[in-house]
This record gives sequence, structure tokens and C-alpha cells, in this order.
Amino acid sequence: MDAEHMGADLERVLISEEEIQRRLGEIAQDIWDHYAGEEFLLVGVLKGAVLVMADLMRAFPGSAPMDWMAVSSYGSGTKSSGVVRILKDLDTDITDRHVVIVEDIIDSGLTLSWIRANLESRHPKSVEICTLLRKPDAAKVAIDCRWVGFDIPNDFVVGYGLDYDERYRNLRVIGTLAPHVYS
Ligand code: XMP
Ligand code: MG
Repeated sequence: MDAEHMGADLERVLISEEEIQRRLGEIAQDIWDHYAGEEFLLVGVLKGAVLVMADLMRAFPGSAPMDWMAVSSYGSGTKSSGVVRILKDLDTDITDRHVVIVEDIIDSGLTLSWIRANLESRHPKSVEICTLLRKPDAAKVAIDCRWVGFDIPNDFVVGYGLDYDERYRNLRVIGTLAPHVYS
């Protein structure tokens, strides 16, 4: 599918490329200032956070190491259950290190609460969360997320790392899909 057709599958653009870049620039500066010269490790959650990670880390005034985790959440359909299995663990030992979890989206927050608890059990110096998007349901679990790009409505969104059946991850914007895509 070419880019033009991919764009035509969107019903509405929620967040433009410029808005994403501007917000990630602000967050990058804020994270950088927060650690005030102390090293921190970025931990991305595959696969959705790939693009957030790429643009966030390039917006830092200096360099920060990164690592990745892949998890699968057992759930019925599109809702996650909070029961999580690690598909790919970190390559790095995080004992006594500052960790920033980098996520694309928090929906129920169950997956991320599990990841956070799992990382905290490894005795890091600290764990913070940075997510590009947050949905209203995330409020149901008291998940303390220090850096949030955008609060969005409770619609299914694609683009900028987020997929529908592995498609649309490479869109530069975040949007909702037109009904004809689902049918
Ligand atoms: P939680 O546990 O917070 O799960 O409910 C978050 C995960 O659910 C997926 N998710 C989405 N994926 N568009 C997507 O492409 C969406 O609107 C959406 N909402 C939730 C995603 O995998 C995320 O990591
Ligand atoms: Mg994800």
C-alpha cells in the first residue's frame, strides 16, 4: 500500500507530525533536566515505542543509552488483562540505575503497571515512565506517569508506531481509522 492510500484510510488526524516533534522536544529537555547530569537508561517497549524512542533520544542535548523489552499481554481481543509474559527481556542489568520506560500509549495501564513492578523488583535507582499518548481509562489504575505527550479520547488510533494488524506504524501522524478499514 502506498503512502497516499494509507493516508486515505484515516478518518481524522488527531496529532500532526509537527505537534509530535514539538512535544517530544519539550519532554526530552524536561527529562534531561530532571536527571541533571546523572546517567539514565531508556527502556523502550516493543514494538509501538520504536518511533517515540528514535525521535525522543535525538532531541536530547547529549546521549543516553537504550534497551528494549517485548511483552505480550494475555487478554480477550483488544483489552489487556494485566497478565503479562516477557517475550524479550532487557540485555542490561538495571541494578542501581535510573530507568525511564518509553511507551507509545497507555490505555488501561495494566501492561505498564506490570512492567514497572517487574523492573522495580530488580533494584534500580529509580523508575519513571514517559508515554507519548494516554487514554482516559489509564486513570483507573493509579499509574504514576511523569511524562505524557498527549491525552487523547478513547478511540483506537494508529500511526507513529501504533498499528492496526501491523499496518500504519510508519505514518508520521496519529489518527483514527475510517470505518471502511475495519469492514
Ligand atoms: P494497556 O495495558 O495500557 O495496553 O491497556 C496498552 C497497549 O494496548 C495497545 N493499544 C493500542 N494500540 N492503538 C493501538 O495501535 C490504540 O489506540 C491502542 N490502545 C491500546 C498498545 O499495544 C499498548 O501498548
Ligand atoms: Mg505498546
